[in-house]
Amino acid sequence: MRLDKFVAHATHLPRSEVRKRLKSGAVTVNDTKEKQAARQLTFEDIVRLHGEILHLPEPRYFMLHKPQGLVCSNHDGEHPTVLDCLNEPNKEALQIAGRLDIDTTGLVLLTDDGQWNHQITSPAHHKTKTYRLRTAEALTPDLPARFAAGIQLKDESRPCRPAQLTLLDDYTARLIISEGKYHQVKRMLAACGNRVTELHREAIGELQLDTSLNAGQYRHLTSTEVKQLSSSNE
Ligand code: URA
Repeated sequence: MRLDKFVAHATHLPRSEVRKRLKSGAVTVNDTKEKQAARQLTFEDIVRLHGEILHLPEPRYFMLHKPQGLVCSNHDGEHPTVLDCLNEPNKEALQIAGRLDIDTTGLVLLTDDGQWNHQITSPAHHKTKTYRLRTAEALTPDLPARFAAGIQLKDESRPCRPAQLTLLDDYTARLIISEGKYHQVKRMLAACGNRVTELHREAIGELQLDTSLNAGQYRHLTSTEVKQLSSSNE
């Protein structure tokens, strides 16, 4: 990692401030003053700022119960974002592991561990996502078999991977998919001549949204949950 990036991560100082400190000679690497922002560090290097040893912060992992009306983005000129729910330092550094539409509620994961995010969201890992949905038109008994066979979305060359649709009543269902195509659930129902009116994500892989979290609330993941999610690739 570059020295300026390391110092910025470790201190949460803006890059411009880090560059000033580097220029002033406040940063040492292995007890030698270092002014080169682009210096590449190895794991053995000891970096100090004003004599204090710097450490990278531990990566953070959160689950959020996303309410409606927030966008899953770090910045948005028009709407509040999921980051507005978080009371955390340096929250701009967090990545959203699997986005939801503005009107979708439920489980959203946020982390500053890019590798973990990749394991959760990479299409190659086929991590399952469980949704509860409500539709405008009644759900018909033929639908579970159609979803299991693979729904053909408009404007896609290949059908979706088999998905598990469980009808809960005439207008609600639980759906488990193992892909993350753009607006996938809404497009799957549209392909069957129906329309999703409410959509809520209950789980990603085996990780269920904590039912003690009200919409807008969040909590840290436990270390077991972090490991479980990155190791269980269904
Ligand atoms: N599928 C959708 O259509 N919307 C979401 O927010 C998530 C999955």
